[in-house]
Amino acid sequence: MSWWRGAAIYQVYLRSFADGSGDGVGDLAGLRARLPYLRELGVDALWLSPWYVSPMADAGYDVADYRDIDPLFGTLAEADALISEAHDHRLRVIVDIVPNHTSDRHPWFRAALAGGPGSPERERYHFRDAPNDWPSRFGGPAWTRVPDGEWYLHLFDSSQPDLNWEHPDVRAEFESILRFWLDRGVDGFRIDVADRLVKADGLPDLGPGPDPMDLPHADRPEVHEIYRSWRKLLDSYPGERMFVGEIWVSDPARFALYLRPDELHTAFNFPFLRSPWEADRLRAVIDSTLASHGPAGAPPTWVLSNHDVTRHVTRYGRSDTGYTQRTRDEPADLALGTRRGRAAALLTMALPGGVYLYQGDELGLWEVLDIPAELRQDPVTRRTNGAELGRDGCRVPIPWEGADPPFGFGPGRTWLPQPPEWRALTVAAQERDPDSMLSLYRTALRIRGDEPALGDGTMTWLPAGPDVLAFTRDPGFACVVNLSRAPIELPPHTRVLLLSGDLAHGLLPPDTAAWLQQGEP
Ligand code: NOJ
Repeated sequence: MSWWRGAAIYQVYLRSFADGSGDGVGDLAGLRARLPYLRELGVDALWLSPWYVSPMADAGYDVADYRDIDPLFGTLAEADALISEAHDHRLRVIVDIVPNHTSDRHPWFRAALAGGPGSPERERYHFRDAPNDWPSRFGGPAWTRVPDGEWYLHLFDSSQPDLNWEHPDVRAEFESILRFWLDRGVDGFRIDVADRLVKADGLPDLGPGPDPMDLPHADRPEVHEIYRSWRKLLDSYPGERMFVGEIWVSDPARFALYLRPDELHTAFNFPFLRSPWEADRLRAVIDSTLASHGPAGAPPTWVLSNHDVTRHVTRYGRSDTGYTQRTRDEPADLALGTRRGRAAALLTMALPGGVYLYQGDELGLWEVLDIPAELRQDPVTRRTNGAELGRDGCRVPIPWEGADPPFGFGPGRTWLPQPPEWRALTVAAQERDPDSMLSLYRTALRIRGDEPALGDGTMTWLPAGPDVLAFTRDPGFACVVNLSRAPIELPPHTRVLLLSGDLAHGLLPPDTAAWLQQGEP
């Protein structure tokens, strides 16, 4: 079986993982020093957020040079060392590729500005005499005017001009970039904004009620041709390399098109991430995930959090447990959110397919809501004039050890402030506590790695009471999650393998999950 079909993949958000240089920003030196921690956690692979040369207007998702490392993070030689050391620890390395847009400091965009209206350099981007009505995903219009009067398209920040994927230079350049990193030994790519590369001819207006199945700026049928060609390229390399697409396409059938055998291997399962903590909703999304992936033969992925969304401990501790766009800072019951987060961890790690962990999930970190406005760095905050809090709250540096910030993150300050309460959540504190979130993740990942039933495969729902999720994985494994308000009996089992919380008089309490062995081992 290919490793990526059932892998546990850890998202390293480099600037917030560990700081080796002492400038307050995480880097490759910090990550390399902490590789043993990741090995011991029990994950199979790392996905690293962009590490390329960048003015960091969008934390590195604005790339100025795709073939070098930003000095903030280190050097190309350190990246090579990281890849090889990760492999020594039996950790695969997935890098982030950002093909929808470049930075406005990329040589191509500079040349486009210098070339002026009508120049061939402008054809690599989308320049027009007048804007259309498309909004930027980060707030405000998706168009910015340059001094000579033309406008350019940017689906995200104005510092992230969209590339024109009809242009042969763009296609050739990205294939060359893929080869550059494959030659250096990476095991895969996470494709940023994977469904938006191609735009409808003529860039037509969205109009008042755009048809969600026919958007001019998303999920165009022509985009599949790009991934067919990328897949051929990837398959020409030895070893089992993979793609994971960031695809926010809500229609399951359209989503599944990206997972055809000659396209991407996997894609993030955002409907699961967005689901409220409700049994019916979760069950529906699990069913539709399995139904859409099955025909394509692609393994599902399960993800609770990432660097773009409110951390799930906070989401699950709110009255509305669904995904929020951070327009408000509604307080959360963190004890409840943590309890549910523990149960959710066992649920995701028991489902068939691959699982993604965002750094800090394993520590039970919550969303930091009280970052002072002047310290916030996400362009979303600026572009919405503060109406959206932005994504900084899930990007706060990891607490490693000690009683006070920076909690061993590095020798000095941290680029975002850490809450003093995180002293109870440091890696060192949790390593000493067999009941901590970290201990739960380590045990779950160990069992997941050893247990033949887990990872890739199929599942069967068990009959269960209202608001209970219970399913089996062959051979002889069951997972039960109690989302009801009352304790429940465990399904038949020969052994309890793992609990997210203590049983109460032999019953599984609310917001608690159990892994069970059924039959003989
Ligand atoms: C998705 C990335 O995850 C996000 O962080 C980034 O801001 C946008 N794509 C634009 O690249």
